[in-house]
Amino acid sequence: MAEKRNGLKGWSAPYVYFSSNWVSRAGVVMATTGAILWFILLPVILRGFTGAPYAGILTFIALPTIFFGGLILIPVGILLRKRREHQRGLYPANFPPLDWKNPQVRYLLFFVAVTTVANVIIGSQLVYSGVNYTDSVTFCGQTCHTVMQPEYVTYRLSPHARVPCVECHIGPGASWFVRYKLSGLYQVYATVFNTYPRPIPVPVTNLRPARQTCEQCHWPARFEGNRLVVIPEYAEDEPNTLTKTVLLMHVGGGDGRGGIHGAHVGPGITIRYGSDPSRQKIHWVQYTDTTTGKTTLFVDQTTNPKSVNPATGRVMDCVDCHNMPSHIFHLAGDAMNDAMARGIIPPSLPYVKKEGLALLEAKYPSQRQAAREISAGLLAFYRQKYPATFAQQRTQIAHAAKGLVTIYDDNVFPKMHVTWGTYPNNLGHTNFPGCFRCHGTLHEASNPANIVPIDCSVCHDVLAVGEAKPKILTELGLAGSP
Ligand code: HEC
Ligand code: HEC
Ligand code: HEC
Ligand code: HEC
Ligand code: HEC
Repeated sequence: MAEKRNGLKGWSAPYVYFSSNWVSRAGVVMATTGAILWFILLPVILRGFTGAPYAGILTFIALPTIFFGGLILIPVGILLRKRREHQRGLYPANFPPLDWKNPQVRYLLFFVAVTTVANVIIGSQLVYSGVNYTDSVTFCGQTCHTVMQPEYVTYRLSPHARVPCVECHIGPGASWFVRYKLSGLYQVYATVFNTYPRPIPVPVTNLRPARQTCEQCHWPARFEGNRLVVIPEYAEDEPNTLTKTVLLMHVGGGDGRGGIHGAHVGPGITIRYGSDPSRQKIHWVQYTDTTTGKTTLFVDQTTNPKSVNPATGRVMDCVDCHNMPSHIFHLAGDAMNDAMARGIIPPSLPYVKKEGLALLEAKYPSQRQAAREISAGLLAFYRQKYPATFAQQRTQIAHAAKGLVTIYDDNVFPKMHVTWGTYPNNLGHTNFPGCFRCHGTLHEASNPANIVPIDCSVCHDVLAVGEAKPKILTELGLAGSP
């Protein structure tokens, strides 16, 4: 018994002795500083950093570095001093006695006990809140504001504005969490050293398969059968003539294979495809229906079916069509149609569509410069060409200018080299290839006459195209709505 206690004392006495060195002391100071800073920042931490991204960076990147750095320095100092004294032959034969009679030992044990308890509590708090903070929308969207500005701005305007970034970008479970935290470290590095690509490239190649994330909230069995889509369009003439396109989208779903969702994400369906890295040119598609066991290969004109290895393909999921569920970048014309239909840009102003479009699509070095030139340009147009309108509709013109600047700021980010059409939208076929990357483009390998269907009514009933007063809207009592 006595021997054992001696052994323990003999073992620890040198550490007590060697711990009086400047490296270890610096470590103690750093760990204490970290703890005190943490205590001072506690009110901000508890409030959750709303709108204070830099306090977040300080607390969750600087504080743990100081705190844990200090904790590491203490043993490093002990080891260094021990080695040095060994080398110089100064290693003492005897250490001061270690027992309760020695007040220094009592003091040290008390100190170690208290700091350990404090360190455990503070350390676990730092880690826990750090992990939570790096999951927050503030961290993802605002901390590195230039880099994430395009995604953050478009996210705030999307139907997912209240869905945290991590719900789609990480999703449930531990394995993707760890993968994203690791790649996140590299992204922080790229931002700090300014080596990130502009624009941020899409598609996101390491995005988690969407069915594991989106289906936490939406799943095909719950989708509606058909959906009426009304698309307003203002012409570039003097009265900005309004016409409407009306589609009945066969959204499909339910428990069957019907409609758009049933055909691609319905029960038992797996679609694999091969494409260029941008996923805008699709070369082959393998369509498998596990309930019938039927597999069909479709290829484009230039692909030799024998060269296709389906195992290398990407499994089609939600984001192959909904590639902009949350970061929705509009084209200038579409955004103007929408703003005019909602009265944000008054359609009563002559040629406002044509002039607005020209001002939006011009090149500007920054959003600030764009705001100045767009407003000045619109005012100048009415002052010179329509003096009467300029005199009578000053407020409408000011509203229109403000609406145009908002459209620009929501879609064009010169610093990130993001402009009209930088990010293609796959949900459609008029502005970008979208559905027609496969439909109407690929044919069955063993039966070239059979192409992936392109009949207009497969996806939607076209109820009206560019009509001033679509009959269907009158019948439904919707004629008045824009
Ligand atoms: C509703 C789901 C969803 C939410 C919420 C979401 N994202 Fe995304 N995000 C996506 C999808 C899907 C893509 C992939 C697009 C592709 O690969 O073509 C993407 C792509 C990105 C990209 C790559 C560039 C781009 O525009 O496609 C960045 C950066 C990004 N998201 C950041 C964020 C940040 C920051 C937030 C929170 C402020 C966020 N995302 C919230 C679904 C989401
Ligand atoms: C945490 C829950 C959540 C997740 C995860 C999520 N969404 Fe959503 N989604 C919502 C909510 C809430 C709305 C807005 C309510 C609405 O419009 O029905 C919405 C709206 C939508 C809409 C617009 C519906 C409409 O009416 O036009 C689409 C499309 C959509 N989500 C697709 C996706 C896709 C694709 C993903 C995966 C990349 C995804 N969502 C992930 C909750 C979620
Ligand atoms: C083949 C392309 C395609 C795929 C794959 C796809 N969607 Fe859709 N989705 C559409 C189209 C087209 C619409 C109708 C859009 C419109 O109303 O203009 C739609 C509509 C929706 C809507 C809104 C309508 C509703 O009934 O609530 C949601 C939500 C949605 N999709 C989620 C998903 C999710 C989640 C997945 C993956 C499981 C998915 N989609 C896969 C093409 C697709
Ligand atoms: C990656 C290729 C690909 C893309 C992209 C794609 N589809 Fe398909 N789609 C297919 C294939 C393959 C079939 C099955 C064709 C067959 O069985 O003959 C199919 C079938 C369908 C069907 C059922 C057709 C029928 O005969 O009942 C609908 C509806 C449909 N797609 C709508 C869409 C819409 C809408 C989009 C765009 C939002 C889209 N698809 C994008 C490959 C694709
Ligand atoms: C593979 C499915 C598919 C096929 C085939 C298809 N469409 Fe579409 N179409 C879509 C989708 C998806 C949209 C986008 C709906 C939305 O914007 O909500 C769309 C949108 C449109 C629009 C509105 C575009 C706009 O923004 O003004 C028109 C017009 C249209 N389609 C006409 C046609 C005609 C004509 C055909 C036959 C040659 C056809 N489509 C075939 C899926 C399809």
